[in-house]
Amino acid sequence: MRARLSRASASSEEPRDLAAEGMRFLEAASLTEASGRARSTMAFTLSAEHEKIVDELIARYPTKQAACIPVLHLCQRQVGWVSPDVVAYVATRLGMAASEVQGVVTFYTMYAQHPPGKHTVWVCRTLSCELMGAKTIQEHLEHRLGCHAGETSADGTFTLKKAECLAACGYGPMVQIDDQFFENLTVEKLDALLDRIARGETPTQEETAWYPNAAAATTSGS
Ligand code: FES
Repeated sequence: MRARLSRASASSEEPRDLAAEGMRFLEAASLTEASGRARSTMAFTLSAEHEKIVDELIARYPTKQAACIPVLHLCQRQVGWVSPDVVAYVATRLGMAASEVQGVVTFYTMYAQHPPGKHTVWVCRTLSCELMGAKTIQEHLEHRLGCHAGETSADGTFTLKKAECLAACGYGPMVQIDDQFFENLTVEKLDALLDRIARGETPTQEETAWYPNAAAATTSGS
């Protein structure tokens, strides 16, 4: 079974008032800043194991601030989303202003700004997938889950999101569910997949095939 993390991608959602979102976020966190640095109650803590990884990440870059993106991913992996407390933690840990960290969080769609459902489904809506039927896939998901992109199904099982190109352009339409890619999708394949995941079962090797046509291409000598 192949699994991989996808890169953070710029937003494909509808235009948003990022300044207003940022202000609401910071107010909710009860953050104040002195001399441009963040102060907070620091309610969020990373596990000891993850703290070690933060140290390793910081050592890779010329400045602590440059580790902001991977450290945010690490925090999100631990608690599922980037809460105001996570922003405060990262700001303090990396010597940044909370507003700087919040700017990163609101720019990249791969950071969840609200607690997500048990699973997150990303639908690629960039050109190659679009030409292969991504719109149909998204509309089917909205109908099945009873929610739009950016929302979570009423039972809390799936959060639906739109994504820019996820680098599987030859295998569209495709979705990413949590950390796994599912490619060459049809509505029927997708339904079977979601049924399986909702039951708590692991997707099959066939469903997660990364290069489903590789064997045929090799055989034909292409
Ligand atoms: S266009 Fe969908 S993965 Fe690239």
